[in-house]
Amino acid sequence: MSGKVVCVTGASGYIASWLVKLLLDRAYTVKATVRDLGGPKKTEHLRALDGASERLQLFKANLLEEGSFDAAVDGCECVFHTASPFYYAPVDPQAEFIDPAVKGTLNVLGSCVKISSIKRVVVTSSVAAVLFNGRPRTPDVIVDETWFSDAEFCERGKMWYLLSKTLAEESAWKFSKDNGIEIVTINPSMVIGPLLQPTLNTSCAVILNLINGYSFWSKMSKTNIFECSDHWHTSLHSSLPQQMEDIA
Ligand SMILES: NC(=O)c1ccc[n+]([C@@H]2O[C@H](COP(=O)([O-])OP(=O)(O)OC[C@H]3O[C@@H](n4cnc5c(N)ncnc54)[C@H](OP(=O)(O)O)[C@@H]3O)[C@@H](O)[C@H]2O)c1
Repeated sequence: MSGKVVCVTGASGYIASWLVKLLLDRAYTVKATVRDLGGPKKTEHLRALDGASERLQLFKANLLEEGSFDAAVDGCECVFHTASPFYYAPVDPQAEFIDPAVKGTLNVLGSCVKISSIKRVVVTSSVAAVLFNGRPRTPDVIVDETWFSDAEFCERGKMWYLLSKTLAEESAWKFSKDNGIEIVTINPSMVIGPLLQPTLNTSCAVILNLINGYSFWSKMSKTNIFECSDHWHTSLHSSLPQQMEDIA
């Protein structure tokens, strides 16, 4: 798809910043959405990318505003939807997590379905949307594409981020079936690597916490970790932005 026009939502975020970089490096024209066009911390690192002055267009868009993504997806062949709140301990889970994740995904897809040039939408879901259903995960159990997290199970456990990703993926597939728009969902686990953005995101903060001796993540699996960096294929890591482009 090199040379084509694509959209990346939530472009100031950790994964999306790397995705924008990769797409610009591969000669795509990128229409990227951010919430705050005026905030240097959200846009300067994007504007500084190679190729940005020629092929990066920034758009203001908010997941909670219907039609907010219309201009950004117009004329695109593919949309990478990555915007979604990702942190822990929200005060108001519905307003902070569930609404932006679910209504936001439907808003983005609602904008996409109006644009006939869009062939596919890549929805950044999460392992959060598939692994958490209370079923045993003993060595004899095969976890495959039929597995989804259980919303009630997540809600009972007050696992709000997991719930937001579970409901968002469910809504995305329903919208896709109801409206005949092709989507692909990807379900990464912990994504780590160098930062392009100037602020620390939630998954990379885990590594800092390990260095600082915080114990909660000390048993974190060392496999199935995705890396965002220029060094795509190291022995333990696979590159998420590369995989996202491959499925576009
Ligand atoms: N990092 C991981 O380990 C991991 C693993 C699996 C899945 N994921 C998924 O991958 C995606 C990106 O994650 P990330 O780690 O890159 O997170 P991130 O750095 O926190 O980026 C999240 C992005 O979503 C945007 N956003 C949040 N609420 C919004 C709203 N109401 N309107 C518009 N934009 C909004 C943020 O905009 P602001 O910058 O303005 O806040 C930010 O650009 C998310 O969907 C996440 O669930 C991440």
